[in-house]
Amino acid sequence: MSKLLIGNIKVNNNIFLAPMAGLTDLPLRLLAKQDGAGLVYTEMVSAKALVYRDKKTKKLLTILDEERPVSAQIVGGDSYSMSEAAKIVQDLGADIVDINLGCPVRKIAKAGAGAKLLANEKLVSKILESVVKSVKIPVTIKIRIGLLPEQNVAPGIIKIAQDCGIKMVAVHARPASQGHSGTPDLNAFAQSCDGAKIPIIGNGGIINEEIALEFLKIPNCAGIMIGHGAVGNYSIFRRIEEFFKTGKKLSLPTQKEKIKWLKQHVIYSTEFYGEKKGLVLMRKVAHYYVKDMPNAAKIRGEINSMTILEDFNNLLNILIDT
Ligand SMILES: Cc1cc2nc3c(=O)[nH]c(=O)nc-3n(C[C@H](O)[C@H](O)[C@H](O)COP(=O)(O)O)c2cc1C
Repeated sequence: MSKLLIGNIKVNNNIFLAPMAGLTDLPLRLLAKQDGAGLVYTEMVSAKALVYRDKKTKKLLTILDEERPVSAQIVGGDSYSMSEAAKIVQDLGADIVDINLGCPVRKIAKAGAGAKLLANEKLVSKILESVVKSVKIPVTIKIRIGLLPEQNVAPGIIKIAQDCGIKMVAVHARPASQGHSGTPDLNAFAQSCDGAKIPIIGNGGIINEEIALEFLKIPNCAGIMIGHGAVGNYSIFRRIEEFFKTGKKLSLPTQKEKIKWLKQHVIYSTEFYGEKKGLVLMRKVAHYYVKDMPNAAKIRGEINSMTILEDFNNLLNILIDT
């Protein structure tokens, strides 16, 4: 896989972990990084909440050296709060600031932010220009191919991004109306890559080497970004890298490996949030690790009732030996 320059930031490979609210916190990012993700993203954080110095929002931007380079993603609908938030993100140590232009969630759309902005090129241009001016670190964006099926606004937005000094664009190759599932539109993605002068990263439905190849063989596609497919399945980064280097497919993670990741995830989570909150937060992600196991529903039920780390570990020790 190729190394990539995003502005002045060097990444060791071009297979990235996608930003995912409620999932890509520090614990999960560390796991993805250890298994070879070239770049990890924080969850999106509200620009306004950052500007109002909301403590919980600031905690979402805790960054450790071992996960670098890290891109911190901000979301908002006005140039003032977005450029102020970008400065805060830079001061908190992010290597890159990413602007969310793809979130379809109603609350975000109501604020005129996320994917909603794709319908307003003028405002996009204003926000990108002011954010780029406000910081020294590279600024990137993550977009959708459009709001509705059959739309492809990406080439126009990429052109604006280039003119504003944006250093990379990640394109989620599904319209916003499609949410986070369904087949990605590779034709629309290919049109996005065509003639682009900055790196374009493909995203959407990448769960194995073959789909990764579908994206990477598109001329001018500079890399890929994996969301769902990476959670509890971190070796996907190395597997895709190996496939492109040697053409060989490495084996899929065993149940034992998945439980080992889950064990490490629980350790990171309880260290970072404290035992009580760390275990509650594990309820949201545990199903990614256990979904293919026999008795997955029963295991999830047990995990959902756990309030003590020792009990959680005892359960995982039993699962690792089965
Ligand atoms: C639970 C969840 C949260 C997400 N949060 C964000 C986010 O904060 N910022 C963002 O740009 N995209 C977000 N996304 C979209 C992902 O980054 C990614 O574009 C999408 O999941 C498609 O990739 P995939 O098919 O590999 O999962 C989220 C997706 C999911 C499933």
